[in-house]
Amino acid sequence: MTIQRDSWGSKLGFIMAASGSAVGLGNLWKFPYITWENNGGAFVLVYLVAVMILGLPIMMGEIFVGRAAHLSGAPAYKKLGGLGWSKLGYLGAAAGGIILSYYMVIAGWSLYSFWQCLGWSLGGYDMPSSDAFGNFLSNGPLQIGLTLMFTLMNVGIVLRGVGRGIESATKIMMPILVLLMLYLVITAMFMPGRNDAFAMIFSVDFANMPAMGYLEAVGQAFFSLSLGLGAMVAYGSYMKKTDSITNSAIWVVSLDTLFALLACVAMFTIILSVPELKAQVSAGEVGTVGMLFITLPQLFYTQMQGGVVLAPLFFILVAFAALSSTLSLGEVVASMMIDRRGWSRKKAVLITSGVVFCGSIFAALSLGASQTLSQVTFRDVPVLGIIFSSKSGILGLLDHLAANWLLPIGGLGTTLFVGWFLKNDFILKELGVKNSNVVFNLWIWCLRIVAPAAIIALIIAVATGKDFS
Ligand code: PHE
Repeated sequence: MTIQRDSWGSKLGFIMAASGSAVGLGNLWKFPYITWENNGGAFVLVYLVAVMILGLPIMMGEIFVGRAAHLSGAPAYKKLGGLGWSKLGYLGAAAGGIILSYYMVIAGWSLYSFWQCLGWSLGGYDMPSSDAFGNFLSNGPLQIGLTLMFTLMNVGIVLRGVGRGIESATKIMMPILVLLMLYLVITAMFMPGRNDAFAMIFSVDFANMPAMGYLEAVGQAFFSLSLGLGAMVAYGSYMKKTDSITNSAIWVVSLDTLFALLACVAMFTIILSVPELKAQVSAGEVGTVGMLFITLPQLFYTQMQGGVVLAPLFFILVAFAALSSTLSLGEVVASMMIDRRGWSRKKAVLITSGVVFCGSIFAALSLGASQTLSQVTFRDVPVLGIIFSSKSGILGLLDHLAANWLLPIGGLGTTLFVGWFLKNDFILKELGVKNSNVVFNLWIWCLRIVAPAAIIALIIAVATGKDFS
């Protein structure tokens, strides 16, 4: 029996869902943070170049594989390339499951921050004690409960399928996300740190950028654009043959990049407007996570005009951004079981989400609730010591494994598959183009040479001990 395969209702549906996948916690906390660490300007420029010459071609490659095969993950690679290439799909599904397991935990924090801010907005701001966040992290039942809530939200939408679930949800969430972000940026524009923020983000000075910034930009491009694990293969598999891959990919890449830049502008302006905060961040006292979930909520109430309204709204934004990303991760894992084993969507979503949630429990308890899980490290173990570097705690280890190894390796596989393995004639035919043109040649040569070279450099750097997570 063949079941009618789901598809996007429109090209806009694909763009909303795919940019929803791309825009996420990676844009809101990771990009501003590493941009700050790399002293802005030059790093931002390198990131933009990485997005153009690597991110865009690989995104087009992944969408191409999904659309051409009309399948996602391993079955897609198998159909176009045979059994050997299907390993790439399994690797991607594993990476998707791993990222999902810890991403859910962090996504759960946005729900908590939302409730906290709502309480402050309605009942008056009450400054939390300095160890409040630490206590929150080490509260095991609360962490598991929040993760479960987020998991259930995700399951509820993915269960409804691509068109009625993911597309409908992201079509509502993405415009709200854009509006909230614009509101945040406009509010920031009235703060005194605005000019300093622009100078830091946009004035290029290569002497100021650490050498590793080049490769960090490559790693961030992968994570932020949701590349290297087949998310775009899955989403591409529901695309109509008449929709342009190039055009859709350009939209997704542009929206994601714009979001990252806007997040940076807002975040930097806020930091640079408050002298004590600037000192704290510069001294490294406030880390990535702290910035978003500890400092920002307090600033809304103590420093910002309209913060009472903005604070709860902001955490809705964070939750939406995270949810539209977890939907794609959930879809990667579930759709592989649907396409590979012929499982019903319900069975695939419930079983895979259950397995991933078991992983989440370990990640959720590794923030202080369980000593063993929080401190586990492979620092001194041969081989594993290289793979996991000096990271400790389940959540940190999983993030390191996925961001620094699995995504770049998966991305490299796709460049080799589309750039070298698939025949040009086949690709052109599938694209509905008669002869290769400039855009096509640029794309293929980026996939053949530029992208693999950059990724191999990244993998070598990671293998020799550099952490990009
Ligand atoms: N791109 C998402 C973000 O920026 C994370 C993600 C990675 C989602 C890989 C799907 C696949 O937060």
